[in-house]
Amino acid sequence: MVVADAFGAHVPVFRELTASAQERAWLARLPNLVTALERRWDIHTGSPYRTGVAAWTAPAITSDGALAVLKVSWPHREARGEAEGLRFWAGDGVVRVLRSDDVHYALLLERCEPGQALSEAAGSAEQRLATAARLLRRLWSRQPAGGLALERVGDVTAEWAELVRERYRRLGRHLDSGIVALGAELLVSLPTTATSEVVVHGDFNPGNVLTARRQPWLAIDPKPMIGDPAYDPWAMLTQMGSPFDGPDAVGVLGARYRLFADLVGEPVERLLAWSVARAVESALWALDRGHPDAAHGQMAEAGLLAGIAGL
Ligand SMILES: Nc1ncnc2c1ncn2[C@@H]1O[C@H](COP(=O)(O)OP(=O)(O)O)[C@@H](O)[C@H]1O
Ligand SMILES: [Mg+2]
Repeated sequence: MVVADAFGAHVPVFRELTASAQERAWLARLPNLVTALERRWDIHTGSPYRTGVAAWTAPAITSDGALAVLKVSWPHREARGEAEGLRFWAGDGVVRVLRSDDVHYALLLERCEPGQALSEAAGSAEQRLATAARLLRRLWSRQPAGGLALERVGDVTAEWAELVRERYRRLGRHLDSGIVALGAELLVSLPTTATSEVVVHGDFNPGNVLTARRQPWLAIDPKPMIGDPAYDPWAMLTQMGSPFDGPDAVGVLGARYRLFADLVGEPVERLLAWSVARAVESALWALDRGHPDAAHGQMAEAGLLAGIAGL
């Protein structure tokens, strides 16, 4: 039996996924799907988490008392590799997969306890970035074996470049055309100049690193791909605290990027260039989703980062 408040507008995914008929149909099927998974995997779920926008996620407990999390994602491209990536890392720096159902994009995961996000943790932004850098190095250190069913960064970002240009023509003429063009160009060119190849986490933001017991910090929610490690740090560096808000954003971000580049052993120019590319992609995606304010914010961030990079 699912809890009484399992579904409805208080759960973010029910507010976010209303744009298309397919999204609304998926939300309508979700209660039956969760009930079926509870039965099949012999688990009980609690009240869903109130963060996250592309998945229904709730604490769960298994029949032998293990603490778990049930995550059912809206079936989309980025969610397809989550189980594959988590299994690849085999619990080293990430949560373990207890069960998965690829057809329904459902995962039963090891639960992080107490599960406090790095975004909320004690310590200065710099201290928390150092924690993030250590964890990221650990993820990158596992060499990709053959036969991994993951997409390649360059294939995905080349498609994004096309989407950026198409969305700009259709919706974004008021945006800074130079920054849009720069972002689209970088999405294509950066993968061709990468000097190493790892399994990237793909969504390494401060909300996706949680305190745990088995290891002090575990990553959740990967959108893994194979490619340039410098692709990864953007979300961590730009979402830890509010680095764009202060009077000296350029100074703060410049120092932060240099520190992180040093800690992960990647060139700072590539971290900045990927950040411009990803911020532009994110801006045009937000515009397409009907969030023009978010799009303008991301474009401003892309412009500022391009300035720091001297691009
Ligand atoms: N393994 C886990 N242990 C503890 N909490 C989790 C776990 N997985 C997810 N959560 C909680 O659920 C929220 C949403 O999950 P997440 O996988 O990040 O989904 P989204 O793709 O929607 O961001 C997280 O921010 C966290 O609060
Ligand atoms: Mg998340």
